[in-house]
Amino acid sequence: AAMLKSKGKKEDEYDFVFEDSIDFVSQEVLQQKLTRKGRKRPRGDRGSSEGGDSSDDSADVDAPPGGSAAPGAPGGRKLTAHEEILALRKRLPVFKYREEFLEAVRDHQVLVVVGETGSGKTTQLPQYLHEVGYTKVGKVGCTQPRRVAAMSVAARVSQEMDKKLGQEVGYSIRFEDCTSDATVVKYMTDGMLLRELLTEPDLGGYSVMMIDEAHERTLHTDVLFGLVKDISRFRPDFKLIISSATLDAEKFSKFFDDAVIFIFPGHMYPVDILYTKAPEADYLDAAVVTVLQAHISQPVPGDILVFLTGQEEIETCAEILTQRTRGLGSRIKELLVCPIYASLPSDQQAKIFEPTPPGSRKVVLGTNIAETSLTIDGICFVVDTGFCKQKSYNPRSGMESLIVTPVSKAASRQRSGRAGRTQPGKCFRLFTAWSFQHELEDNTVPEIQRTNMGNVVLLLKSLGINDLLHFEFMDPPPPETLIRALEQLYALGALNDRGELTKLGRRMAEFPLDPMLSKTVIAAEKYGCVEEVLSICAMLSCGNSVFYRPKDHAVHADNARLNFARGGGGDHGTLMRVYNQWVETNYSTQWCYENYVQVRSLNRARDIREQLEGLCERVEVEISSNPTEMEGIAKAMTSGFFYNTAKMSKSGDYKTIKNQHTVYIHPSSVLHKQEDPPLWLVYHELAFTTKEYMRSCIDIKPEWLVEIAPHYYNGKDIADSAAKKLPKVVGAVSKAQKKPVKNVAA
Ligand code: CDP
Ligand code: MG
Repeated sequence: AAMLKSKGKKEDEYDFVFEDSIDFVSQEVLQQKLTRKGRKRPRGDRGSSEGGDSSDDSADVDAPPGGSAAPGAPGGRKLTAHEEILALRKRLPVFKYREEFLEAVRDHQVLVVVGETGSGKTTQLPQYLHEVGYTKVGKVGCTQPRRVAAMSVAARVSQEMDKKLGQEVGYSIRFEDCTSDATVVKYMTDGMLLRELLTEPDLGGYSVMMIDEAHERTLHTDVLFGLVKDISRFRPDFKLIISSATLDAEKFSKFFDDAVIFIFPGHMYPVDILYTKAPEADYLDAAVVTVLQAHISQPVPGDILVFLTGQEEIETCAEILTQRTRGLGSRIKELLVCPIYASLPSDQQAKIFEPTPPGSRKVVLGTNIAETSLTIDGICFVVDTGFCKQKSYNPRSGMESLIVTPVSKAASRQRSGRAGRTQPGKCFRLFTAWSFQHELEDNTVPEIQRTNMGNVVLLLKSLGINDLLHFEFMDPPPPETLIRALEQLYALGALNDRGELTKLGRRMAEFPLDPMLSKTVIAAEKYGCVEEVLSICAMLSCGNSVFYRPKDHAVHADNARLNFARGGGGDHGTLMRVYNQWVETNYSTQWCYENYVQVRSLNRARDIREQLEGLCERVEVEISSNPTEMEGIAKAMTSGFFYNTAKMSKSGDYKTIKNQHTVYIHPSSVLHKQEDPPLWLVYHELAFTTKEYMRSCIDIKPEWLVEIAPHYYNGKDIADSAAKKLPKVVGAVSKAQKKPVKNVAA
């Protein structure tokens, strides 16, 4: 591992060197080597001259956006905090084009807007529309692909408007509605707008809808494109804005019947791109070394932004950085470590926006959340690992997994652009120039082409859109993916054999959950364990790990966890007991500490659970309870997750039933390395790290599969092990075989 050590040469400006420092080479040097005549690129690697970046751009003359302190008020009085905010608003690149923008909205029903990240699209445009009266006739809505962005932007805008969050300005994300009757400017995730369409298919409450961060091409945004396009056709009073940070606006314009494109010219400072001279084996380690290297050698002020792939990695990186800088004490300037990821509590999210105290440096450790959705002022060094976590889906096997994947060239350019917003900057790419050129794809594949569509298909069906093959997609999903989703919904009983929504499907669609979980909740009614299943589903949906395991208390933490596992039901039973015992202590925080359980995960689970319970009432699922009977709970889980069944093979590892894919129990599971491992289990999801891991598992009996999903499993699927290892089962098998086995594809 990289170490800092004192070189002892005190006269040096900085007297530390790295045992294994990383050598970078600048892109400029590389280019000069390649092309002798080399047309010098004025703006780092951005190639940003394509859009509105003309040399007579008056934006260049102005003070940089969000730059140094605002000028004083007339008469030398100091500005109040709010006046300062207003002054900042006026210095954002979009401000100069306010009137032109409003005119364009007035004259066109659909407008595609393009502007650099940080130019003020998300925070300012909805406010402009509010200021000139669009909120008198309806709400102004703005979608965001990410929860964190929706929350933080709404907070910022309410502050700019000097209103309490949740009043005039609010946000709505899954399981959290921070709006009121007074809300006129509403930020929401794209997924929430999709759900809103269920109750308000014409978006009648909105005068304007801004589909923001369109370039991200999330599944939900892509589906919204088709739906809002339709709405704009039959609602002439409805204004639609498609907003993107990249310049591929032509595609959006074309999709929306050649909509007008409005470009906000922005200003970017040059960013020096640096590549590693040699490939780095461990990007996390390389990121830590690069941050420390930059911190010691680069001038202050100037904050650092690091792109990592997920929460765990961010936390590890934060821990190492804190440790190493603490070890150096006062010999280096203070380094403030700020993590940012989706499930970080909002008070800690706010920390990343706080100005860095003079003389110190901030390092923000983020996922691709910080690529375009969030702008952090003061960043001038970017460390790009070149990786992100991406969903990938194989429609043939029906397997979806999150995989650490190299980013695209386009994403890497966005990342480096973050360094040049307020002053010239540097981007350290932790890969070689060769690998940028030859190994990275040009663009990220839209999510719709690499994800399971079950959820969205159920929503579209509920919206009355039956003919999915002819739905207007900007880039259609692979036909196998659609067919697979239809098959899955059919297998779950949400669709009938003509592909129409069933009563069960209609009820399932009410839950903001994956269809498999919705089905589980509804099935729990039959097994008399709705309370238990609601707790489990809420715990599975809280987005965080429930347990924590401090390194110096690992044994205690593991023991605590295994205590909860007593009573069976694998990870699901464990989660249920954690939740129930917490409730018994009257939601005690102290209890959480003592049991190595994350209190904020439980609080979130409690919130989610309350909402799910409310929805049960709405779709008339009768609440029942039986916490000691694991079989009912396991059967309810099987009703939703029978797709995710694996069976132990002779060699001792697990194979999925339908595809014979080799999978492993995740080390965090209570079933991991058990003395008496279950032969059959149902898993919640797959996570691919070094191997294909099953996360959250529960042991089941194979005969349940034919009992619960007879159209999906027949006697053959469970026959051999049933005959050999579980003689008790034979009766059930032959019973199942007598039943006519319906073919899913029929
Ligand atoms: O949407 P776009 O990337 O064009 O910019 P924006 O998100 O509207 O950001 C405009 C300005 O607001 C930036 O200078 C951000 O730093 C600031 N902002 C903030 O201070 N706090 C937030 N939560 C969001 C934005
Ligand atoms: Mg934005």
